[in-house]
Amino acid sequence: MKLHGTMKINPSSHLEIGGCDCVELAKKFGTPLYIMDEELIRKNCRRFIEAFSSNYPDIEIVYAGKAFLTTAMVKMIDQEGLSLDVVSGGELYTAFKAGYPMEKIYFHGNNKTPEEIEMALKLGVGHIVADNATELEMLDYIASSMNVMQNVILRVSPGITGNTHQYIQTGQLDSKFGFPLYQDSAYNAIKGLMCSENLIFQGLHCHIGSQISDVAAFSLAARSMVQFAARLKYELDAPVKILNLGGGFGIYYTEEDAQLDPANFADSITSSVRSSLEEYNLPLPRLVVEPGRYIAGNAGTTVYTVGSTKDIPSVRKFVFVDGGMADNPRPALYNAKYQAAVANRMNGNSHEKVTLAGKCCESGDILIKDIELPPVCQGDLIAIFSTGAYNYSMASNYNRLPKPAAVLVNKGKADLIVRRESYDDVIRNDIIPERLG
Ligand code: LLP
Repeated sequence: MKLHGTMKINPSSHLEIGGCDCVELAKKFGTPLYIMDEELIRKNCRRFIEAFSSNYPDIEIVYAGKAFLTTAMVKMIDQEGLSLDVVSGGELYTAFKAGYPMEKIYFHGNNKTPEEIEMALKLGVGHIVADNATELEMLDYIASSMNVMQNVILRVSPGITGNTHQYIQTGQLDSKFGFPLYQDSAYNAIKGLMCSENLIFQGLHCHIGSQISDVAAFSLAARSMVQFAARLKYELDAPVKILNLGGGFGIYYTEEDAQLDPANFADSITSSVRSSLEEYNLPLPRLVVEPGRYIAGNAGTTVYTVGSTKDIPSVRKFVFVDGGMADNPRPALYNAKYQAAVANRMNGNSHEKVTLAGKCCESGDILIKDIELPPVCQGDLIAIFSTGAYNYSMASNYNRLPKPAAVLVNKGKADLIVRRESYDDVIRNDIIPERLG
């Protein structure tokens, strides 16, 4: 079991995060509870800045908000000097309400609605990342009717895939994201963009997938982007001032995963970018990367309370927790693996193989299959590690379960950053039409 960030085992044999005893946190805030380690979030931001800026003169680290976004998270990202990637009106609104500087936003998405585009232009979003031809046309029209000059970068699908689950691969030709390099689709879009009176072409974006530990895949994408940038410069006189290579930096969930430092990614990416630029005799563009999971993933832990257990002799022992696929759909969706511990008995040493299952009405609602834990009983607390990314942000109200609370812990202080939903919150938007009485 790997303890991340400020995690410790305290003298009562309880899991402690950010100087807070998880048993006390569970008592005070209830379970399931997302616990976010502020120190680790901030440290991860700094490690990315440090790793990339020590290798390259002009960098911009953009936090991919889809991993975990709340108004408090926006504040921390801003304080750490990171830019922000949003993919919807909702994420944009979260950033706006938290007072985030709009010029530091990259607005992504493969199907931005006219309303979202108008909202972005009105708020003065720094860059729109154009994803397809229909969108580019619509963006040009809206910018012109609002009389706005808008910086744009173009998302390209470079035809490269990271070695990851197919649902989170994005760089391949057959992808819903981005303009393919294939058949000059991206090239022709930029040619058109250069004639626009309201859109300013600033550069290129690509994102090859998520949870990628193969640094060579990033290098390959970088090289293909620079090669394309050379063509744009020499054939269209369209200089790429921003080269955004997306996110996807893999993290450690279990011993099956590599444990990579931002420096491993930075070294490989910056050296490929530099050498390709030299090869084509191009000046250094601003280099942008968009880590999401790496910033928030290991900084999050979910604490659950054990309810019933069910032993099927010689088959399996189930341990049921008070959450599941509604607060963490990743195991059901991607067969994602996690580590866990008994938060109120961290030093318990006799082990038993169990399967941690949630409370949703789905056989697939299994959080961890076959994990060795000290024997657990009703009332014990299970901590699942590395749930900071794509858990809260992907949570649902399936089975009308209220979404859990999230607390931010640091140096013995625990502050609520997302209130637990009540049953009234669950029915808040329900309406009984008059005719139903
Ligand atoms: N930039 C773009 C354009 C993206 O599409 C993504 C993720 C990122 C950055 C951040 O990627 P990261 O560094 O977090 O890997 N729900 C899936 C992950 C989907 C990622 C979607 N795009 C999961 O739970 O694994």
